Amino acid sequence: MKNNVYIETYGCQMNFADTELVMGILKSKGFDVAKEIDSADIILLNTCSIRDNAEQKIHSRLEHLKGVKRSNPNAVIGILGCMAERLRTDLIEEKKIVDLVVGPDEYRRLPEFIDAAYGGEKGIGVKLSRTETYNDITPYREDGLSAWISVMRGCDKFCTFCVVPFTRGRERSRSLESIVTEVAQLSDRNFKEVTLLGQNVNSYNDNEKDFSDLLVSCAVAAPEMRIRFSTSHPQDLSDKLLYTIAEHKNLCNYIHLPVQSGSNIILEKMNRTYTIEHYLDIIDKARKIISGVSFSTDIIAGFPTETEEDHKMTLDVMRKVRYDGAYMFKYSPRDGTKAYEMGDDVAEEIKAKRLNEIIDLQQQISWQINQELIGSEDTILIEGTSKKSDDFLAGRTDTNKICIIPRNEEIKIGDYVRVKINRTTSATLFGDLI
Ligand code: 5AD
Ligand code: SF4
Repeated sequence: MKNNVYIETYGCQMNFADTELVMGILKSKGFDVAKEIDSADIILLNTCSIRDNAEQKIHSRLEHLKGVKRSNPNAVIGILGCMAERLRTDLIEEKKIVDLVVGPDEYRRLPEFIDAAYGGEKGIGVKLSRTETYNDITPYREDGLSAWISVMRGCDKFCTFCVVPFTRGRERSRSLESIVTEVAQLSDRNFKEVTLLGQNVNSYNDNEKDFSDLLVSCAVAAPEMRIRFSTSHPQDLSDKLLYTIAEHKNLCNYIHLPVQSGSNIILEKMNRTYTIEHYLDIIDKARKIISGVSFSTDIIAGFPTETEEDHKMTLDVMRKVRYDGAYMFKYSPRDGTKAYEMGDDVAEEIKAKRLNEIIDLQQQISWQINQELIGSEDTILIEGTSKKSDDFLAGRTDTNKICIIPRNEEIKIGDYVRVKINRTTSATLFGDLI
């Protein structure tokens, strides 16, 4: 029986959540999870298109898979996710080893495409849907501490640099009930943390309830679990949401709020729909309403027409907000987006130089913020053994920082423990049990 599936996942958390969804669909049709690629009959790559280097990684992976196909000519190789949606038939025409190409809204048809591939046909399913939310599908999850749940799909914001509206289609939300049921099931299985996911998670709306309502329902349904969410767009970060986070202890005091640039001229060209003044107002308000809230962000260096002055404004905003962490990227032109037509006029060396300055500054800021925590106390959720040494345990603060403490036989994975911070780096806290 040919039914062992191996999936490799690239890109964002949404893609990792989709892989669990795909496994849920396939398992319900009798397929099994292959733990290793060598024992797989079906190899699927769940891909990302956000920047060119994400796609290059897949191209080189496919080169490697040619060898796998040579030793196992019956293996079915498929491309899922954003690259499937963006490149469509090109993938099948250019890459002879690819048997199926299935975009994010057609995963229900995967079993059918796999059967066809066994019959020697190539399968392509790349239609986007206005309604598909996979509401009724239970994702396949191994037991663990932390889970992702995608609560909405797609994006209507059309930032000019971004492929997501084209690869993942229009925004649509799952029903509140189905999400809360899933959270409660995870809680019953002893999961301790869930991250609610969406490209614009805070614009969640199931026609009756908004994102704050959803958070409250999840917080109440699983009081022992920490609830996180990602990614928020500043335009939809309502006061109601801030008060909701402040009111519920298990809604984490951590907001990922991409700023992208500190220059109003660039923000306008990016179609971000806010000015930097407006953005900073939101940060101020959040800090007043949610005590101890921490922020992370996404920043792009070298968007078309970005001048040295624009870049300095980005550094300036980083100093003003003092983010706890940041994901920082060089601008990568994506065919089909509005920004693609603006050219790619910031030279590669300049992009690299600006990105380095951004990374260096963020490192200094993270270091300082963490230094200021020395002597303070916090509650961490124990996630496991420290990666560097078996003599230490690793946990996470509500504000999403890793904290290392000496191993103690009485502490188990999944416990909440109080710690005092005594040493820090820019990336990690070190503490002792209180
Ligand atoms: N080039 C560089 N970074 C990009 N991002 C999205 N599109 C691009 C692009 N074309 C970044 C944004 C976004 C994050 C997920 O990826 O910062 O918030
Ligand atoms: Fe990559 Fe965006 Fe697709 Fe996620 S949604 S996989 S970040 S292109």
